[in-house]
Amino acid sequence: MSYKASFRVWRGDSAGGGLQDFTVEVNEGEVVLDIIHRLQATQASDLAVRWNCKAGKCGSCSAEINGRPRLLCMTRMSVFDEDEVITVTPMRTFPVIRDLVTDVSYNYTKAREIPAFTPPADLKPGEYRMKQVDVERSQEFRKCIECYLCQNTCHVIRDHDENKENFAGPRYLMRIAELEMHPLDVADRRHAAQDEHGLGYCNITKCCTEVCPEGIHITDNALIPMKERVADRRYDPVVWLGSKIFRR
Ligand code: SF4
Ligand code: F3S
Ligand code: FES
Repeated sequence: MSYKASFRVWRGDSAGGGLQDFTVEVNEGEVVLDIIHRLQATQASDLAVRWNCKAGKCGSCSAEINGRPRLLCMTRMSVFDEDEVITVTPMRTFPVIRDLVTDVSYNYTKAREIPAFTPPADLKPGEYRMKQVDVERSQEFRKCIECYLCQNTCHVIRDHDENKENFAGPRYLMRIAELEMHPLDVADRRHAAQDEHGLGYCNITKCCTEVCPEGIHITDNALIPMKERVADRRYDPVVWLGSKIFRR
């Protein structure tokens, strides 16, 4: 069954823009990305949108639908009422390039700032051993498709460009937590998380977790454990020594 839907799509570029209204056909089983493609095919051939897989796996089609950060290809039209006006806008936290396409290079910069997995120097390939529980912990974090919806949502940077320099965002704090909890990683992740990547800015509002299309428990399984490790008194050698002496 088909019907006509009312769409409002943000059009513009870095110099500015606004919402443009469209009436567009919707067919059974379609997702919002189908409708954007229909607009390109029938009414707005120059409408810019980034996408690749149409299967929720490439992380390219992130945008905001009625103000909520979502993947365009995984948002079914059936979740909206037929007479509802559907507003599609680009992710707000990143600079607009054109229409629904934003410049997400902030995320690549943050990714590059994290030192790679660092196993002990004397451990040779083939000697790596891990418990299954440690493998499973990493696997949850590795489901990330780098859609950046969590980065877009976190209030620390959403309306605060000035915090971007000092805050890696939930996706990359999660990466640091993954490495910190990895039994074979020997790099100092705790000092770096706090002093260089802005873990202290996170006040565990969990908005990042709410929008993650992979259902990763970013806050509970990565950010809170990382905060606990940073706060662990034993981490500070002086405090640790003091606690040993005074316990006697
Ligand atoms: Fe997207 Fe989730 Fe990865 Fe964040 S953690 S970039 S929301 S998949
Ligand atoms: Fe931001 Fe997520 Fe922390 S939304 S404040 S990184 S819990
Ligand atoms: Fe790949 Fe939507 S097009 S996640």
